[in-house]
Amino acid sequence: MTEQEVKQQMEDLAAKIAHYNHQYYVENTSEISDYEFDQLLKKLEELEREYPDFKAENSPTQRVGGDITKKFETVEHEYPMLSLSNTYSQDEIVDWENRVKRQIQDSIEYVCELKYDGVAIGVRYKNGRFEQAVTRGDGTKGEDVSANVKTIRTIPLRLKNDFPTEFEIRGEIFFPLDRFQQLNEERESNGEDPFANPRNTASGTLKLQDSSVVAQRGLDCFLYGIYGDELPGEGHYETVLKASDWGFKIPLPKHRYLEKVESIDGIMEFIEFWSEQRADLPFEIDGVVIKVNDYGQQQDLGFTAKSPRWAIAYKFETERVSAQLQDVVYQVGRTGAITPVANLSPIPLGGTVVKRASLHNEDQINKLDLYAGDTVYVEKGGEIIPKIVGVDSNERSEDAQKIEFISQCPECGTTLRRFEGEAQHYCPNDTGCPPQIKGRIIHFISRKAMDVDGIGAETVEQLYQRELIANSADLYSLTKAQIANLERMGQRSAENLIAGLEASKEVPFERVLFALGIRYVGETVAKKIAYSKKNIKTIMDAGYDDLVAIDEVGEKIAIAVQEHFQNVANREIVDRLIEAGLQMAVIERERESERLKGKKFVISGVFNEMSRKEMKGLIDSHGGQNVSSISSKTNYLIAGENMGPAKLEKAKKLDVPVLSEKDFLKMIEHD
Ligand code: IVH
Repeated sequence: MTEQEVKQQMEDLAAKIAHYNHQYYVENTSEISDYEFDQLLKKLEELEREYPDFKAENSPTQRVGGDITKKFETVEHEYPMLSLSNTYSQDEIVDWENRVKRQIQDSIEYVCELKYDGVAIGVRYKNGRFEQAVTRGDGTKGEDVSANVKTIRTIPLRLKNDFPTEFEIRGEIFFPLDRFQQLNEERESNGEDPFANPRNTASGTLKLQDSSVVAQRGLDCFLYGIYGDELPGEGHYETVLKASDWGFKIPLPKHRYLEKVESIDGIMEFIEFWSEQRADLPFEIDGVVIKVNDYGQQQDLGFTAKSPRWAIAYKFETERVSAQLQDVVYQVGRTGAITPVANLSPIPLGGTVVKRASLHNEDQINKLDLYAGDTVYVEKGGEIIPKIVGVDSNERSEDAQKIEFISQCPECGTTLRRFEGEAQHYCPNDTGCPPQIKGRIIHFISRKAMDVDGIGAETVEQLYQRELIANSADLYSLTKAQIANLERMGQRSAENLIAGLEASKEVPFERVLFALGIRYVGETVAKKIAYSKKNIKTIMDAGYDDLVAIDEVGEKIAIAVQEHFQNVANREIVDRLIEAGLQMAVIERERESERLKGKKFVISGVFNEMSRKEMKGLIDSHGGQNVSSISSKTNYLIAGENMGPAKLEKAKKLDVPVLSEKDFLKMIEHD
């Protein structure tokens, strides 16, 4: 055989395997036996070993894994991965539908879907090839788990038919229940502990370093959303169905996994159906999701800070069990907040064995009227820590002791405080109470804050015990020798940590502000304050009125910020952080002009003088806003070559002016 012929043979084999693979895993049929399939795969593997140069980048042999990921790289999402607002109440679904109707004032189609209880994933395709798979992470950045995701047989490596050149498809990776059970049986026969529940195991599996282990586990995936500039449909439902032609496993209408309805009655029927049928599914769901179908209507409805207004999740009621209350212990958080936690007799609930439950605060304890030894009802409402929702007082013994909330901090003995109008007790000893000191440092280094590599809670504990650190600024004075001396550390780890601290000096100011750990100043509020006041000095000296004038800053937050910076110790920490070289001001992005201010643009097709990306950049730098679908709120559609007819039609229907590339350039020309 000539090399050319070998190459051809390998390509043919790869195509055949991909075809049978899709048939088997996505369509649940097969034209050949398992044996024949294995023979094809073996043959291709042999050829790839012999002619490694001819191995295709996305060869189906990767399905068996083998690639090792040492470190999962962090990747920024092109489209943020938001969450869904959710409810357990059907009345709230009715309210939601009414709000949608009020805002849209037109006929509306809804898409009903299952809410898969797995791990969200975004997979990017370019020119019909799998490019990258990224986890949800914090919503703006996730981790590149491509090698592992490529082993999931239902996720195509190459696409078929008429797919868009570039897009991202999102869905949920989950553990099919039969595979989960099989895995646990194997583990138990190996003397290993079984895994607690399918969802956490799916999430853990996705983060394994050895992709061949992932391949054996048999994860699966449903895709439920497509994101891109040039999508074939004007609505969610049609686009998802199209993705099936490209080779994706999508939830099918014939199984009632996906359904388009036109009214609240249709929505309710779907909810009723799955409330009853969900136990028979071969995978776990925790509710259903309702989405407005039309992309333009979705855009008009928009988003809140965390979730789209065009979608809502209805969650099913949770399982409830009874357990014995053994005692109540009290945890001290980084802000000094005291959380009572109930120790329970171990009891299986929703796939895990529950031993503890959160009690939230004193009022909660009083409301439940808790006595030691009580029989309590426990529920898992989506949170990791279950809740006590009631007490069976008939079971109470005569001499049982009432649970009284503590008055002294269990860690440092300081008398606790409870502010007016607040439910939580605090330990006011913020500079002397160990869990608070350590908690603040752990918050400072955490991923959403300074994201310092090479250090975790355990290292903080050791550094604190050895009196090497007592606040975040101390971290930047640590020497390599001091770190290398710690248990389970060494030269290499010390160098990593020093490098991690060095890298944290590039973290933008809004995250530094969040990292300071000011009470009530979360990620979003830190951003608002940072963007409004621009630098740390202005914030430190801001008056109450200055602060409450900032969007999302109320009385409580303003007082907390002022109190934080009135404390000399906190001001000193800031001074030392400035000296260490951290970012203490926002970096302003230059605007070229404000000519397009307040105008929303949709761009479509390809352009002569610039790429799509450059065009978007121009819109942005002149104060305009890029949006992805046409709605009645769109100001202009910029039409390039090869633009789809559907968009043009929609623009006409909604009276949105259409600009050529030239028209647009004229708009932003200098006077
Ligand atoms: S749509 C912007 N559809 O639920 C909306 N999410 O709380 C993005 N999920 O992170 C999500 N089934 O992991 C959507 N049919 C479904 C879903 C679903 C499960 C998960 C997903 C997401 C979370 C949102």
